[in-house]
Amino acid sequence: MDCETILLVAGVFMSEITVNGGRKLTGELNIQGAKNSVLPVLAATILCKGECVVHNCPRLSDVETSVKILLNLGCNCVRDGYSVVVDSRDISSYEIPENLMREMRSSVVFLGAVIGRMGKAVISSPGGCELGPRPIDLHLSALRQMGVRINEEHGFLYCDAPEGLKGTEINLSFPSVGATENIILAAATAKGVTVIHNAAREPEISDLSDFLNSAGARIYGSGSDTIYIHGVEHVGSTEHTIIPDRIVAATYMACTAVAGGKVTLNGVMPSHMVAILSAFRESGCDISVTGKSLTVSSPKKISRIPTIRSLVYPGFPTDAGPVVIAMLTKADGTSVFVENIFENRYRYIDELKRLGAKIKTEGKIAVIEGVNELSGAGCKCTDLRGGAALVTAALSAKGTTTIGDIHHIERGYEDIVGNLRQLNADISIKE
Ligand code: UD1
Repeated sequence: MDCETILLVAGVFMSEITVNGGRKLTGELNIQGAKNSVLPVLAATILCKGECVVHNCPRLSDVETSVKILLNLGCNCVRDGYSVVVDSRDISSYEIPENLMREMRSSVVFLGAVIGRMGKAVISSPGGCELGPRPIDLHLSALRQMGVRINEEHGFLYCDAPEGLKGTEINLSFPSVGATENIILAAATAKGVTVIHNAAREPEISDLSDFLNSAGARIYGSGSDTIYIHGVEHVGSTEHTIIPDRIVAATYMACTAVAGGKVTLNGVMPSHMVAILSAFRESGCDISVTGKSLTVSSPKKISRIPTIRSLVYPGFPTDAGPVVIAMLTKADGTSVFVENIFENRYRYIDELKRLGAKIKTEGKIAVIEGVNELSGAGCKCTDLRGGAALVTAALSAKGTTTIGDIHHIERGYEDIVGNLRQLNADISIKE
């Protein structure tokens, strides 16, 4: 590592957020493009033999890592404000370097696109992450069924499709978001028709399909549990706007609910947020929706939610669990959260407890006993959404909270500090 990189890395890890809690939130905010949509769409540009312009790309470290991966593969890729322009006509490599795979676990979504375009791919095995083991068995099994040979050696996956990719029927034993995306990417230019049964139905899947279809692909049924992909010979140039980030919107709603106040979020897609809106209404928030804006007003006292379960879409999203749990720490009674998607999602709870939250966890269950007051403390982010939960709780805590390891938050939230300041919060960042 050279000197500049060492200083950069040290700087990133030393940054912390300071929050002086107790101020009500008020005002308006524009919601960023969805992180979980922009990553697969940028991967999909690899399949396009032409120039693709992707609008509404948030400024996030995960997006910058995706850009680095594209550049590394030999694509032309430039950011122009909130648009990223990718031209993959001169793609020259099929290997994703290990350091970039490590920077972003979700870079596994590049696998289907690289094999689709180059007929082979080499990536390092993504391994586990802060949410527990994250196997990719469903991705690999589907790719094998499509004619890909995969050798796993010394932590690397060597993949090639000697006879090309061919369409087939794939039954997913679980509707994995990443596996559905990888299959769509591999199938878009495969020979014949691929059918995915028990596909993920998340809005990000539809956004990926819309992007590819606008470039010439033929993907039908996205948003339902059966997706049909008719392989085409050529996908080319296109222009596409990324959908809004429903989890970021949920985060600012939780911040408003717990800090008190009234906030309007603009540029949201309320139809993607039905389960989220229903949870906030149950907690006593008043929510009004007009077109692509929603206004949330906090209740005098947050109502407990007896039971809330994370489920695949259209159920309540696992990624919104931490910020809702942070909100429920101040509820008028005991709430129960059941985490059904990831095995080890509660590491941030010990950090929330430093602020005075009363939460017990066992396995997939968290029991949240509402308290009258949280108090400022020093804490550290353990993961992206857990970090957002700490910010949420800190806004209503008495006194000062410092939050370390905020590089986790920067993976998914663009300028959370600037946005909350715009809403009247007393929050600052020390680089
Ligand atoms: C995506 C999102 C993530 C979100 C998750 C669930 C991105 C970049 N990330 O992650 O923010 O929390 O969807 O909505 O879009 N599983 C297997 N084998 C596999 C694949 C998954 O066992 O081959 C398991 C996982 O370990 C996990 C569950 O299935 O327990 C859900 O994973 P999946 O839907 O694949 O989530 P991701 O695509 O990784």
